[in-house]
Amino acid sequence: MKVLITGHKGYIGTHLVELLKQRGDYVIGCDLNLFDGCQWESLVSPDEELIKDFRQLTIDELKDVDCVMHLAAISNDPMGDLDEELTYDVNLHGSIKLAEISKRAGVKRFLYSSSCSIYGKGEHLDLDENSPLNPVSAYAASKIEAERGIAKLADEKFTPVFLRNSTAYGFSPMLRIDLVANNLLGSAFTKNEIRIMSDGTPWRPLIHCRDIARAFVALNLAPAEVIKNKQINIGDNKENYQVRNIADMVQELIPSADVRYTGEVGADPRNYRVKFDLLNQLLPDFRLEYDLKKGLNELFDKFKQHNFSEADFDGDKFVRLRTLRKRLQLLVTEKKHGL
Ligand SMILES: NC(=O)c1ccc[n+]([C@@H]2O[C@H](COP(=O)([O-])OP(=O)(O)OC[C@H]3O[C@@H](n4cnc5c(N)ncnc54)[C@H](O)[C@@H]3O)[C@@H](O)[C@H]2O)c1
Repeated sequence: MKVLITGHKGYIGTHLVELLKQRGDYVIGCDLNLFDGCQWESLVSPDEELIKDFRQLTIDELKDVDCVMHLAAISNDPMGDLDEELTYDVNLHGSIKLAEISKRAGVKRFLYSSSCSIYGKGEHLDLDENSPLNPVSAYAASKIEAERGIAKLADEKFTPVFLRNSTAYGFSPMLRIDLVANNLLGSAFTKNEIRIMSDGTPWRPLIHCRDIARAFVALNLAPAEVIKNKQINIGDNKENYQVRNIADMVQELIPSADVRYTGEVGADPRNYRVKFDLLNQLLPDFRLEYDLKKGLNELFDKFKQHNFSEADFDGDKFVRLRTLRKRLQLLVTEKKHGL
């Protein structure tokens, strides 16, 4: 099978390339390389690599592709707020255009990486795919509008599917420590302190980044009539946690670390506990390989192996917002100087 992944050099995309290559699929990666130099371990290369903006992909480049897995995005809430216009341009307009040209090129399946953060300020707990959406950021709003725009393109030949992913955690060769569980473990490991920026009460569904990649693979193999145009929460009912529960699990691994509530962000308005019954119903054989405890243990071992330091934790390399901000500043300076 020929698969094109956008964002194949990201936190989730690097796992996805490896899983597809293991299966023997032909993989084309398209990535702008925004986080060039940020890799933690070496990456598995796709068969073909297009280092470019996915918004510039042509019909020719999509010819003979069976499935597009669209992950490239301004990929979290704070990054989305950094430049709202860019967020809508990439996550919304760019994504719909990519789906349109994929359809014109004859691509049969289009798997879109959406997010449970579109439930935002959850009105009640145990949200399913029919629950109201309450986005509290440009990022979440862009994902909702993209889902709606792409859904309109579905027909008997074109199968879009929307993966509403839980918040990811865990090891990836393109590590991120700006995700809640990785952040709490990183701060405990490097500072002997578990710093919680909210009041610790918000609920989050969590999933290992490799399990998100596994869900993409499973949805590529599922019969089209089962999944066509479905929005599907990706995660597990047992993997919903309050931030303070995550802190407790981190403390079990590093008992000397103190839990400190910094109150920096006040009460986080995003609060969502999510149900995954539809995923179980549509893909009865799909199970997560990780729970949070297993994923934290694995990352803890990796931190030890890499001597992960306070400088690593406080630096730019593993925090997408900091790297993106630097890149955007560079672009503005270049523009100002006519470069
Ligand atoms: N990580 C999570 O917790 C999480 C949760 C839910 C949904 N998602 C979604 O999954 C997807 C992947 O997330 P991630 O954590 O791997 O993000 P990431 O930031 O690690 O990777 C995104 C990749 O996309 C690339 N990219 C960005 N804009 C591009 C463009 N215009 N053209 C080509 N490449 C571009 C970047 O260079 C990067 O390699 C995103 O759509 C994100 O919104 C992530």
